[in-house]
Amino acid sequence: KERKVIFIKDLANVDDRIFTRAHLLKDEGFVSYFGAPLITKGKIIGVLEIFQREILKGNSEWIEFLETLAGQVAIALENAALINDLQSKHTELINAYNETIEGWAKALSLKEEETAEHSQRVTEMTVKIAKAMGMGEEELYYVRLGALLHDIGKIGIPDSILLKPGKLTDEEWEIMRKHPVYAFQMLAPIDYLKRAIDIPYCHHEKWDGTGYPRGLKGAEISLAARIFAVVDVWDALISDRPYRKAWPEKEARDYIRKQSGSHFDPEVVKIFMEIS
Ligand SMILES: [Fe+2]
Ligand SMILES: [Fe+2]
Repeated sequence: KERKVIFIKDLANVDDRIFTRAHLLKDEGFVSYFGAPLITKGKIIGVLEIFQREILKGNSEWIEFLETLAGQVAIALENAALINDLQSKHTELINAYNETIEGWAKALSLKEEETAEHSQRVTEMTVKIAKAMGMGEEELYYVRLGALLHDIGKIGIPDSILLKPGKLTDEEWEIMRKHPVYAFQMLAPIDYLKRAIDIPYCHHEKWDGTGYPRGLKGAEISLAARIFAVVDVWDALISDRPYRKAWPEKEARDYIRKQSGSHFDPEVVKIFMEIS
C-alpha cells in the first residue's frame, strides 16, 4: 500500500499473519526478503522479489539501487505490453484490409460473369510466376492484391454494357475500355493500395504497345501486369463462357505462344510454359 521496498532481514522474526507467505519462505530455507513494487504510470503492475538464504545487509544505497532496478523493470514490462498491443492492432488492421479487398472482389463477381474463382485462380498463378521470376515477399504481397482487384474498375461500367449478351458496339467498347482507368481513380487515393495499382491499371496493355488505356510498350508495362496479362487470358480461354465453350488446354497454350512478342512479354511466356 505504501508503494515502497519491503525489507525483511530475518523471516524468523516475522509475524505470519502480517506476511502470510513467511512460513513458506522459511520452509524453503530463505532468511532475508526484499520486495520492490513495479510501478509505471502510477499503477503497480507487479513486484520484484529477492530471496536470500542468509542474512542480507541492505544499506540505503543498496535499496535505492533496487528501487531504480524495479523502475527499469516496470518500464520494460510496460514497453513490452505496448509493443504486443501495437502488433495485434497492426495484424487486425491488415486483416481488415485483406477482408475488405476480398469483399470488393466478391462484389464485382456478383455483378459480372467472371467468377470469384477466376479471381482466385489468376491470383495464385500470377504469384507463382512472379515468384519464379524473382520477386520478393513484399512485392508478391502487392501483386496478390493487384491480381485480386484486377477488374475492380468494372464496378464503374454500366450493367447494360457489362452484361450485354451480344457483341458490343464501338461506342460500348470505348466505355468498357475505361475500366482500368476507373480502377486507377478508385485505388490511387488509397495509400495502402497504391502499390497494388499496376495490375488493375495496366493488365490490358500489350507488349507491342497496341493495348489500352495508355498504349504502354515493353518494359514500360510493369512486370506484374505483364505476368498477369498472360495468366488472365489463359484462364479466360480455358473457362466456359456464356457465348463459347472452354478451349482445350493445348489450343490455349498454342494461342499464348503465338502471342509471345506481340500481346505478351516473351520472357513471361517462357516461364509460363515452364511452370504451367
Ligand atoms: Fe480487365
Ligand atoms: Fe480477369
